Amino acid sequence: MNNQEIIIRVATQDDKKYSTIITDEMESSAMARGTGIAKRSPEYIETKIDEEKAVIAVTKTGDWVGFCYIETWSHGEYVANSGLIVAPSFRKSGVAKAIKQKIFNLSRQKYPDAKIFGLTTGLAVMKINTDLGYEPVTYSELTQDEAFWAGCKIAKVV
Ligand SMILES: CC(C)(COP(=O)(O)OP(=O)(O)OC[C@H]1O[C@@H](n2cnc3c(N)ncnc32)[C@H](O)[C@@H]1OP(=O)(O)O)[C@@H](O)C(=O)NCCC(=O)NCCS
Repeated sequence: MNNQEIIIRVATQDDKKYSTIITDEMESSAMARGTGIAKRSPEYIETKIDEEKAVIAVTKTGDWVGFCYIETWSHGEYVANSGLIVAPSFRKSGVAKAIKQKIFNLSRQKYPDAKIFGLTTGLAVMKINTDLGYEPVTYSELTQDEAFWAGCKIAKVV
């Protein structure tokens, strides 16, 4: 565990320098798990930063620690907090939980009337979501927006 002081905040333009390290970690974590979050391009991460739909965690000395972003469907009626990732050396010290709390608050602020949801097969994220007050639902309660279901295709990692 790494004990440096960690700052968790809405990502700003200056954080675009972390976009490649974020997508590389998404990819290597997915390979380590055999599945996981869909690989995103650095450009996609930068678009989320431009739209002020991303939360980042960094150390005081500027090392990247974690990231998560907001995805919307059906014209903002449904909102998901997606792409949660924490750098391996900072895991298991509550960073993911703090990021999810921050991005939940940001989602509520930007989309006061939206249904906020998350998809996960991971135990850590299930625990975090339960602690934050999320309730389990079936697929039929999620958005029927085709763009959402297209984004759910999971690439098999070989
Ligand atoms: C999943 C991930 C984001 C968790 O980050 P983290 O900062 O270690 O999580 P936290 O320290 O906030 O832990 C939250 C809870 O999950 C538990 N937890 C953390 N990692 C866990 C694991 N691998 N297995 C089981 N439980 C775990 C913690 O003990 C904690 O539970 P508690 O509140 O009862 O103490 C991180 O491991 C990661 O980036 N993994 C790869 C990408 C990924 O799987 N993303 C999620 C896609 S849905």
